[in-house]
Amino acid sequence: MSITLQSATPATLDEIVEEVARWQTEGAPVQLHSGDLGWAWRFGAQALAEKVRVWHRDGQLLAAGMMDGEDGLIRMAVAPSVDHDEALAAQLLADLSDPGRGVLPAGGGSVEARFGAAFRKLLHHGGWAADEPWTPLRRDLATPVEDCGLRIEVLDADHVDDRIVQDRVAVGLASFPNSTFTEERWRALAATSAYRRARCLVGYDDAGNAVAATTVWSAGAGRPGLIEPLGAHRDHRGRGHGRAITVAAAGALRQLGSSSATVCTPTSNVAGVAAYVSAGFDRLPDVTDFRRPG
Ligand SMILES: CC(C)(COP(=O)(O)OP(=O)(O)OC[C@H]1O[C@@H](n2cnc3c(N)ncnc32)[C@H](O)[C@@H]1OP(=O)(O)O)[C@@H](O)C(=O)NCCC(=O)NCCS
Repeated sequence: MSITLQSATPATLDEIVEEVARWQTEGAPVQLHSGDLGWAWRFGAQALAEKVRVWHRDGQLLAAGMMDGEDGLIRMAVAPSVDHDEALAAQLLADLSDPGRGVLPAGGGSVEARFGAAFRKLLHHGGWAADEPWTPLRRDLATPVEDCGLRIEVLDADHVDDRIVQDRVAVGLASFPNSTFTEERWRALAATSAYRRARCLVGYDDAGNAVAATTVWSAGAGRPGLIEPLGAHRDHRGRGHGRAITVAAAGALRQLGSSSATVCTPTSNVAGVAAYVSAGFDRLPDVTDFRRPG
């Protein structure tokens, strides 16, 4: 049975996101999450579809990848049922290695492949080298999450308060120097099927300032949820607000039925790792992307 590589289309995104959500498995490495796709959806369905590649066999979706950033990175999700599938692994490697397939650029590029044992083994054996380290973090949600200490406002698709949307966007812009977030993009995000299982949280200090914000993504009950992104306003850092919004994020994911809250941040983001650990997350062993051999 042949394995086919295709680009996503706006019409297939709902189904792809739903399937990638189903692949999130408690205890398995944190791989490309439906929330990563959801967060990228703020630029519109066409823009996201152009970044997404899918591999099918016999009509069944087996793997999906999202191209991310300017440096030729593809972030992969592999169905648990084909973790050890060598034919799939070989096809993925062939497609990623061939610039004619339009996935990775000639002579460059890297792959985030945290799951898919057979695929990871082939990348190792093919000389794909370790790239920048990332740190996964996880908080178990079996027991209730403590109060975070900030006043939290929640935005879901059905409860849209314009003032809170403005604050969500403003804190996003003040947290990430390269952020291009806008209210229009927030509304595009909130209208997607992915956002039905997501919430934005905005944290307010005692003076009423919007000081921290995040978006959390459930993958369905009993599966790991994702925090993406999370930040504290640059004018209000070092006061426990990063920790507080992270605790609030864990609480919101628990309410959505997630079994754990997960996140992955560059290991070099010392403040980010510290804020998650401070909020009760376990720091898991670092992981690296695979860089194409030179
Ligand atoms: C990461 C971030 C949210 C932290 O926000 P913050 O409000 O300054 O963090 P807090 O004051 O709540 O501090 C939380 C913990 O992190 C530690 N911390 C904060 N900044 C730190 C830094 N620059 N270096 C080392 N530790 C740091 C604090 O000491 C505290 O630890 P403790 O509870 O053990 O004392 C904020 O720096 C930020 O928005 N960064 C940009 C976006 C980002 O990287 N987000 C996370 C990855 S998605």
